[in-house]
Amino acid sequence: MNAERLVLHSFLLILQVIFCTSKDSINTNQFVKDGEFLISKGNNFALGFFSPGKSSNRYLGIWYYKIPDQTVVWVANRNNPIIGSSGVLSFDKYGNLVLYSDSNQNVSVWSANVSGEEADTSVAQLLDSGNLILVQESGNIVWQSFHYPTHYALPGMKIGLDLRTGLDRFLTSWRSADDPGVGDYSFKVNPSGSPQFFLYKGEKRVSRTSPWPWRPLRNIYNAKFVNDQDEIGITSVIPDDDSIMGRLLVDHSGFVKSVKWDESDGQWKEVWRAPRSQCDSYGWCGAYSTCEPTDINKFECSCLPGYEPKNPSDWLLRNGSAGCVRKRLESSSVCMHGEGFVKVEIVFLPDTSAAVWVDMSTSQANCERECKRNCSCSAYASIDIPDKGRGCLTWYGELRDAVRFKMSDRYELYVRVDTIELAENARKSNDFLGKEISAILIPSVASALLVVSIRAYFWLKKRGNKGKTEQALLSRVDKVIRKKLKSEI
Ligand SMILES: *[C@@H]1O[C@H](CO)[C@@H](O)[C@H](O)[C@H]1NC(C)=O
Ligand SMILES: *[C@@H]1O[C@H](CO)[C@@H](O)[C@H](O)[C@H]1NC(C)=O
Ligand SMILES: *[C@@H]1O[C@H](CO)[C@@H](O)[C@H](O)[C@H]1NC(C)=O
Ligand SMILES: *[C@@H]1O[C@H](CO)[C@@H](O)[C@H](O)[C@H]1NC(C)=O
Repeated sequence: MNAERLVLHSFLLILQVIFCTSKDSINTNQFVKDGEFLISKGNNFALGFFSPGKSSNRYLGIWYYKIPDQTVVWVANRNNPIIGSSGVLSFDKYGNLVLYSDSNQNVSVWSANVSGEEADTSVAQLLDSGNLILVQESGNIVWQSFHYPTHYALPGMKIGLDLRTGLDRFLTSWRSADDPGVGDYSFKVNPSGSPQFFLYKGEKRVSRTSPWPWRPLRNIYNAKFVNDQDEIGITSVIPDDDSIMGRLLVDHSGFVKSVKWDESDGQWKEVWRAPRSQCDSYGWCGAYSTCEPTDINKFECSCLPGYEPKNPSDWLLRNGSAGCVRKRLESSSVCMHGEGFVKVEIVFLPDTSAAVWVDMSTSQANCERECKRNCSCSAYASIDIPDKGRGCLTWYGELRDAVRFKMSDRYELYVRVDTIELAENARKSNDFLGKEISAILIPSVASALLVVSIRAYFWLKKRGNKGKTEQALLSRVDKVIRKKLKSEI
């Protein structure tokens, strides 16, 4: 046996030892020291101590076991790194899972925080889904890492609000590639109005998902958006094949991403990311506008029907941040003055945090009536709700962050406008319809004119004052009216 083969042989032997002794769980009398691992049954995930990037700090985390490029999906002691290799994961007398920074187990840097009575038998197990669960005597799962996500959403994990327990599960970025501490960016559900997810930087909204309900076609995150009495949030769908794909994460540079493992290339491939274009930046074009990512020669912002740029000079310089304001604010009204609605085809409905579902199952006509009777209702949309029917969503006040782009799957947003805009839009939007309307409108305007002129004619006549100028005026009015009527009817 030559030296090379000997080395190979011992290497295989070591591997075998590691494999045979690898376990997926620990009980109350056991622990995981730095250098030891838990490996899930099907070898999908590993739990152990690691140092991220260029850092030498030690963290307890979970990563893909089979992927050579260590991809950490969960971290316990995010903000409390362990210096040196003395970390130990074990149990306290309450059967609580605790991470100590010293081998004497005096200093705790993380705990599952399960409160309760003393428990003799607890088991912590790493599942093949990547979920670390803590099971106590009763057999109940008293804690699980899937309920406390860090920056990564694995298939089967739920992100959002559990209304029964009040638990808010959201993703938070790392501080940097070398520091898994809680960073600036988070991806979190906003349950008010119609729920939607926001990417936040601190408290600031950076980007937004489409609101609930999602259409299957719009489902770019490989996830379902649930909104019922128990929960509001998304569940990453477990792919049918065993492939490692469609994971959602928030990275430290401020992107929400969906990634998938490319077996042939041996690396992670980005499937989708946001924000990508300027229109993905929350409120890029200000209030009452739409943003449309187009070619660079065209300004991406435009005002909704019935609105005009608030700062026309900024607008000319292609700065839309000030948004739009209602046209003819002084002279015209959209409150019980014959106003109506103009349809805008849109991909991302405006921010729904202040929108109201007035009815989960009603016709579009009812929805319009509902919006019209409240003067502060600025727009409405009649939307298909899976398994329910047509829901009526109404907006009050400012419309923000509506995005349109060329995509077949669009929502119809109906924006409240005054009579002038309504007429203009009807004329512009559709030639055929425009002709039809004028066929009704012009004769009625003409006959109204005729009535007024005839009245004026008789009024002047009755005054008996048949001065020369008035006579001339009368006949001239007469002629003009006759001529006009002849040409238009
Ligand atoms: C840590 O615990 C050991 C024994 O468990 C004890 O001897 C030592 O004094 C403790 N150290 C501190 C700093 O509490
Ligand atoms: C556990 O509870 C302590 C004190 O209440 C808190 O500081 C800590 O953040 C909690 N840890 C986790 C992982 O929730
Ligand atoms: C756009 O205009 C706003 C004021 O309306 C101003 O605060 C902002 O700095 C401008 N942005 C750019 C890029 O010029
Ligand atoms: C109009 O709708 C708003 C928002 O729902 C509500 O606060 C207000 O009371 C409504 N006004 C009327 C007159 O119904």
